[in-house]
Amino acid sequence: MAAGKVTGTIAGAISMVAMSYFLCSLLSRKGRLLQMIRKKKVITKVGFVGTIGNTPLIRINSLSDGTGCEILGKCEFLNPGGSVKDRVAVKIIEEALKSGRLVNGGVVTEGSAGSTAISLAIVAPAYGCKCHVVIPDDAAVEKSQILEALGATVERVRPVSITHRDHYVNIARRRAAEANDLAEKHHKINNRNILMSEQINGLHPKEENLDPVISHDYKVGFFADQFENLANFRAHYEGTGPEIWEQTDGSLDAFVAAAGTGGTVAGISRFLKEKNPNVRCYLVDPPGSSLFNKVTRGVMYTKEEAEGRRLKNPFDTVTEGIGINRLTENFKLAELDGAFQGTDIEAVEMSRYLLKKDGLFLGSSSAMNCVGAVRVAQLLGPGHTIVTILCDSGMRHLSKFYDNDYLSKLNLKPSAVGLEFLGIK
Ligand SMILES: Cc1ncc(COP(=O)(O)O)c(C=O)c1O
Repeated sequence: MAAGKVTGTIAGAISMVAMSYFLCSLLSRKGRLLQMIRKKKVITKVGFVGTIGNTPLIRINSLSDGTGCEILGKCEFLNPGGSVKDRVAVKIIEEALKSGRLVNGGVVTEGSAGSTAISLAIVAPAYGCKCHVVIPDDAAVEKSQILEALGATVERVRPVSITHRDHYVNIARRRAAEANDLAEKHHKINNRNILMSEQINGLHPKEENLDPVISHDYKVGFFADQFENLANFRAHYEGTGPEIWEQTDGSLDAFVAAAGTGGTVAGISRFLKEKNPNVRCYLVDPPGSSLFNKVTRGVMYTKEEAEGRRLKNPFDTVTEGIGINRLTENFKLAELDGAFQGTDIEAVEMSRYLLKKDGLFLGSSSAMNCVGAVRVAQLLGPGHTIVTILCDSGMRHLSKFYDNDYLSKLNLKPSAVGLEFLGIK
C-alpha cells in the first residue's frame, strides 16, 4: 500500500515536471512568435499558394459618390496569378489530392482559353503537378505563349460547339483519361519487365509503341472541370464569401456579379444568404447569355428564341469569361433575388470611367460587375452597401477591350464623360 503510494507520488511528480516543461516550451515558443509578429507586423505566408485569397475590399470612390451608396470591390486582380481563378485552381487541386484522384507527379487537364488555365498552370507546380491546357486555336496567341512560359503543355484545337466530342473542354476531359490509361499501361509494362528480366536474365521486352498527345510520364491524369466541379463553388463559399462578410463586419445590403461557370456568384451568394437572408444577391448578365432569363423567367431562352428566332451568335459580346447558355452544376447553387442585363457599351464606358476617376484598370467582366453594382444602387436607393468582384485587370484585355480601333469596328467606341451611360448626371 505504502509502496503504491510512493510510486503514485513519483509518477505524479514526473508528470508535473513534464507538464510544466511542455507549458514553458509552449509559452517560450509563443513568446518568440509574438516577438516575430511585433517586429515584422506580418505573419509569413506558407509558400506561394499562401498568397492567394484574402484580397482587399476597396471603396470604389467614383461609383459610391455618384450613387450615394457604398460600392465596394473585392480586388481579385491582386491574386498572384492575376485573377479570381487562383482560388479555384487551389481548391480544385487540393480536393483532388485529398481524394486521391490526383497525386504528386500527376497532370491536371483543363479546357480553357482564359484565366483558369493561367491559374492552374501557376498553381499546379506548387503541388508537384503538371498542367495540360486545351484551347481553341482562334484564341490570342499570347495566351498559349503565357501558358507555355508557365510550364504548361498547350494543345490548340479547332473551335467547335460544346456538344461536339472535339470541343476543347471535351478534349481536355479525354486527355485526363488518356493520361490515366497510359500510367496504368506503363505500370503494367514495368511490372512485366521486372518479371521477365528476372526470367530471362536482363533481356527487356520492347514497350508498346505509344504516340499519344499527352506524355506517358504522368502518374495520373485529372480533369479540373471548372464548370461542373463543385470545388469551384466551395472556393468561394469557404473563401471569398467569408472574407466579404468579415471585411464588411456583416453590414452589407447587396452583392452582385456576372457568371461564367457560376462558381463565384453561387459560392458567395449562398454563403451571404446563410449568414443573413436579407442580403440581396443579384446577377448581371452580358449580351447573348441565357442566365438573365433563367433567373427572371425560369427558362434558358429569350422571348425571340422561343418564337424560333434564335440569335445567330449567342456570344456576341466583348466581355470575356462571363455569360453562358447552359446551366452548370455550380450556377445551380446560386441564391439570387434578381438579375440585370448589361450591354457591351456600358461595360466599355464603365472601364474607361473607372480608369479616369479611380485609377482602376480592370478587365471586361469586372467592368460589367460595376455596371451591375450601379444598377443595384439605383434599385435600392442611396445609403446601401453593395459589394462586387473585380475579377482581373485590364492587362489581359489590351488587344480587344482596351483597343479603341477594335471597338470602333463594333460601334463600341467609348465617349462618355461621366456616368450618363447609366442615367446618372
Ligand atoms: C476574367 C473572368 N471574370 C469572371 C469570370 C466568371 O466567374 P465564374 O466562372 O466564377 O462565374 C471568369 C470565368 O472564367 C473570368 O475568367
